[in-house]
Amino acid sequence: MSQNHLVPSIKETELKENQMKAVRVKGKPILLIRKNNQIFALQNRCPHMGCTFETGILRDYQVMCPCHGWKFDIRDGKYQENPATTIETYNCIIQNGKIHVQIKNK
Ligand code: FES
Repeated sequence: MSQNHLVPSIKETELKENQMKAVRVKGKPILLIRKNNQIFALQNRCPHMGCTFETGILRDYQVMCPCHGWKFDIRDGKYQENPATTIETYNCIIQNGKIHVQIKNK
């Protein structure tokens, strides 16, 4: 049976509007993004060749991989050119001033 765990990461104040930050949560590379005062968390590893996204470009709700320009929707992790290719997304909540990421335990 799988369970979800809320794992604390950085302080909420460390992530400004339109900022992207790479963190590790339970050993997983995760990209945190604040957009329109909502926090998004994505797998921080591009399925193309494994680059990380934190130095990519954030435009509206899309992040562009800095290596070869693949674009992903930060809301559902879908690759723009082929929605069958996705990166993992995680729920986040703020508790005690910290961003907590919901990680599935298998
Ligand atoms: S590694 Fe991301 S587009 Fe190539």
